[in-house]
Amino acid sequence: MTEPHLFVIYGGTGDLTSRKLLPSMYRIIKDAGIADQSVLLGVSSKDIDDDAYREFVKESLLEAGIEDTAAWCAERVYHQRVPRGEEDLSLLSARITKVEDEHALPGNRIFYLALPPVAFPGVIKGLSAAGLNESPGWTRLVIEKPFGRDLVSAQSLNRLVHSSFDEDQVYRIDHYLGKETVRNLLAFRFANMLFESSWNRDRVDAIEINVAESLGIGQRAAYFDGAGVIRDMLQNHLTQLLALVAMEAPDSFDAESIRDGKVRLLNAIRTIDFDEVTLGQYGPAEHNGESLLGYRQEDQVPDNSITPTFVSLKIQIDNWRWQGVPFYLRTGKRLPEKSSQIVVRFQPPPICIFHGQKDDCVSHQNVIRLVLQPNEGFQLHFDVKSPGESLQLLEKQLSFMYAEEFEELPPAYQTLILDIILGDQTLFVRADEVEASWRLYDPVIQAADNGRKIHTYDAGTWGPEGPHTPIQWAPEPIRGEATTSPQA
Ligand code: BG6
Repeated sequence: MTEPHLFVIYGGTGDLTSRKLLPSMYRIIKDAGIADQSVLLGVSSKDIDDDAYREFVKESLLEAGIEDTAAWCAERVYHQRVPRGEEDLSLLSARITKVEDEHALPGNRIFYLALPPVAFPGVIKGLSAAGLNESPGWTRLVIEKPFGRDLVSAQSLNRLVHSSFDEDQVYRIDHYLGKETVRNLLAFRFANMLFESSWNRDRVDAIEINVAESLGIGQRAAYFDGAGVIRDMLQNHLTQLLALVAMEAPDSFDAESIRDGKVRLLNAIRTIDFDEVTLGQYGPAEHNGESLLGYRQEDQVPDNSITPTFVSLKIQIDNWRWQGVPFYLRTGKRLPEKSSQIVVRFQPPPICIFHGQKDDCVSHQNVIRLVLQPNEGFQLHFDVKSPGESLQLLEKQLSFMYAEEFEELPPAYQTLILDIILGDQTLFVRADEVEASWRLYDPVIQAADNGRKIHTYDAGTWGPEGPHTPIQWAPEPIRGEATTSPQA
């Protein structure tokens, strides 16, 4: 059940707030009929008054196609200036009390830190020093990714957070967890015995997790060049997908059981072998008649940057279910298209009785392709005998597409914001989970930061060849062009 609350967005005039948070928040409170329960207080370093901020909010909503918001903005939107780096938040605290009094709110507060990671510690200290870590109602702290930049910094950020907030107040965002198709992974596995009974080393040959992006780094160099693709995508989004695809069945569908399951899985992953890691950086190229910049030519990227924009690696899980089954994780910027897929390849039949029909038995492998975005859905690939006298095998597919069955999927941020308002932590990353994930990649990150060999790939191609051949990197559309996005 929702309760009246104050929604404080730190970074209230930023890009994330404007493009994702405001439209998602507005749609949620309208759809759930709780617009009269929510008051928004944007915090930024800009010297603007409430009216100017209301214009900004209105414009942002309009950009997202949401009209007629003037009345809500006038009645329920405020702005408080806090200079950048300021840790004395007594003014903010006084303003919160004033706004809450005006709206007779019971003191339920959300602090959403839509800020660059370097700003997290200062704001958390400031909130705590001003006593804003507790209130007469509930207080929830929302922290955007990346949470830390390695294991040590994530541990220290967790310690800082826990010095004034309890873990059940903390919502670490990984927006992939809010995508409908990602939320469906556990349902797909544990509501369908057909798949689950084959989801193990006895039946599965290999699993791929491929997240391809067609865009380059654009104007985000200030953040990305210090982060790189391992911190930006692998440590969080791809690792969450891996955990959901490989974890054991949770005891129940609650936040703690699911997060316990993910942590257990992450802790069972074998130390990554450097020989199984390929790093890449896109170089300039012509693609579809367009001249694409190389990473080093992008705005504000140093000429000699060694930041990886592509990573591909093999993961092995030392547990009963997955012993010996390789997991290939791959992601890169400036690839030919945007596509996130999980591909499960099953083992071939033990004996090949269809000699002469295909190259060898390996061809007779069933594949399940879970398409997370776009053209959301899944396909099961299987062989069928072509009608007629001779024994010809053809590969066919059974497909399911969200667009054919459901309305447009809700954007991830909409789902996540509603869960924050409701106080459901299932789709948020727990402290031990984020540390387990950094522990896994720390050695790879150190090697990358220290200039481990990085391959240049042409912008608009599928990235450098790795030590292992991809099963199915280049994604195939399922059927038609229908799409149910947005769910980003
Ligand atoms: C963000 C990364 O977390 O996820 C971006 O910082 C990336 O670099 C984005 O482009 C991808 O998200 P989506 O939802 O478009 O797949």
